Amino acid sequence: MPRITLKGLEKRFGNTVAVQDLSCEIEDRELFVVVGPTACGKTTLLRLIAGLLRPDRGEILFDGERMNEVPPPQRGVRMVFQGQDYALFPHLAIYRERSWSNLSFPLRLRGGTWEAIRDRVGKVTQRMGIKRELFPRKPGQLSEGQKQRVALGKAMVLPPKVLLLDEPLAHLDPPARARAREELRRLHEELGATTIHVTHDLAEAFLLADRVAVMLEGHFVQTGTPKDIRNHPKNAFVADFVRSYEDSLRRAFSN
Ligand SMILES: Nc1ncnc2c1ncn2[C@@H]1O[C@H](COP(=O)(O)OP(=O)(O)OP(=O)(O)O)[C@@H](O)[C@H]1O
Ligand SMILES: [Mg+2]
Repeated sequence: MPRITLKGLEKRFGNTVAVQDLSCEIEDRELFVVVGPTACGKTTLLRLIAGLLRPDRGEILFDGERMNEVPPPQRGVRMVFQGQDYALFPHLAIYRERSWSNLSFPLRLRGGTWEAIRDRVGKVTQRMGIKRELFPRKPGQLSEGQKQRVALGKAMVLPPKVLLLDEPLAHLDPPARARAREELRRLHEELGATTIHVTHDLAEAFLLADRVAVMLEGHFVQTGTPKDIRNHPKNAFVADFVRSYEDSLRRAFSN
């Protein structure tokens, strides 16, 4: 699984600087969580790493190899998108045996047999809590939370080298979110993919991450373990951010 190096990344949209002067190393098999307020550039950063956007400046390296010009399918990256359609196929069922469906698609594309696909989809849906009764439905017939689970499941059927998750738990209620968080952590240990998880919820970041990056206005203001950031915020913004979550952090960490 690749180590990801970001060097002086920059991405502008007209006058908006979405990502600026962003440098970081994300270790092999790390669960790295980027947390920051809305519009700070989180989704743009993931799209740059996935190859869906080209940086205006800077470099993206996987194990030291430059990725800037490598097209998305060759990067070994899977991204679970935020909101709306989650990149699911609207006209296909969630899963149908011996047919092209949302969950069988990535496996069949790789030439998997229908039997192997059934086994793999069975395992993943069980792990992700995707009930069989949802299989015949199309994405438009699912709730937001269910759609997110299916999108996560679709990313998991073919274990990627790099997994990019854009607010994957945003639509779940607190108990479902806590369960999904545990599941994500376990899946991460099982798959070992280098994972970048984006959220605006600091408690979620602290509970999940090996390391956290606090993002503001296009770059990382502080990177460190949850403990580092909680105990040694680097500036007033991070300190305020941590303080605003202090109650939920205390609750979460006392369990
Ligand atoms: N395609 C685009 N065209 C123009 N501006 C864009 C585009 N995509 C993003 N932006 C702008 O870039 C900035 C960063 O957007 P981005 O979607 O990366 O934020 P985010 O941190 O993911 O926010 P949120 O938490 O709300 O999802 C915002 O000001 C946004 O309006
Ligand atoms: Mg976003």
